[in-house]
Amino acid sequence: MRLENKVAIITGGANGIGLEAAKLFAKEGAKVVLADYDEEQGAKQADDLRANGADALFVQVNVADRESVDNMVAKTVNMYGKIDILINNAGITRDAMLTKMTQENFKQVIDVNLTGVFHCTQAVVPYMVENRKGKIVVTSSVSGVYGNVGQTNYAAAKAGVIGMVKSWAKELGRKGINVNAVAPGFTDTAMVQTVPEKVIQQLVATIPLQRLGKPEDIAKAYLYLASDDSNYVTGTVLHVDGGIMM
Ligand code: CAA
Ligand code: NAI
Repeated sequence: MRLENKVAIITGGANGIGLEAAKLFAKEGAKVVLADYDEEQGAKQADDLRANGADALFVQVNVADRESVDNMVAKTVNMYGKIDILINNAGITRDAMLTKMTQENFKQVIDVNLTGVFHCTQAVVPYMVENRKGKIVVTSSVSGVYGNVGQTNYAAAKAGVIGMVKSWAKELGRKGINVNAVAPGFTDTAMVQTVPEKVIQQLVATIPLQRLGKPEDIAKAYLYLASDDSNYVTGTVLHVDGGIMM
């Protein structure tokens, strides 16, 4: 049990990579909070986790809305009394070529993928400071590290979170808090289903490991960075991408 009795908030925990992480964390003994916008999936997945013996809670949240985030954090503390781990995993895409990208699509992605991470981390950190211990993981992306066709908004946000992670690692290290990023490559979830098949085939051909990532590949990296196994790791970007763009 690598997370015994730890309380972990996983944003975007109702689907895809976040859901896989919730299942893995629960198996490792954590009390998991699925903090997600998707009420239907969130409630169902938390029920399923509980039916399998886990301690799990769904809280609906829009990470782009500070009030909603404060409410989610208050519900977590009310239920479990502390927060040990924050996985900033919620994210969206609104892909378009630069010349076709609307102001609205640019703003939506920045609001969720960049500002949302700021909101959640700022709301959670006081509880970690109180305990002089905490683990914060932020989901970046191969697109934030290397750029990607059609992703001006998304790449900006995913590069931006790396800057925040490094700043927070410097600010919060003295408080006993580790802050790291995971940069997944193309991973087989609903998010990738918008990518044209031709583009997927071209991409897979450039990946040394010759396949898309699976949600569990990324969840295992979250687990490492959330557990005591990574106690001397902070401010890093862990690339989990099959070696794409090396
Ligand atoms: N890499 C390389 N080339 C790409 C590309 C990509 N990711 N996406 C599009 N292209 C190429 C197309 O193959 C096409 O080439 P040709 O002109 O030679 O046929 C050209 O760019 C124009 O593409 P479209 O005809 O599709 O242009 P469009 O305006 O109709 O659509 C688009 C543009 C919305 C960006 C669409 O191409 C698209 O969805 N592309 C995929 C973008 C992408 O990779 N998104 C990642 C989503 S998953 C994710 O975000 C997770 C993560 O962190 C990686
Ligand atoms: P997904 O679409 O399956 O899951 C994203 C989850 O975030 C959903 O449950 C959704 O309801 C939730 N969400 C979206 N907006 C929200 C908001 N405003 N507030 C609260 N929850 C919200 O996507 P996936 O693939 O599981 O993505 C997880 C993370 O991994 C995202 O940050 C994504 O950008 C990142 N990522 C994904 C890659 C991939 O190829 N799938 C590659 C690199 C990074």
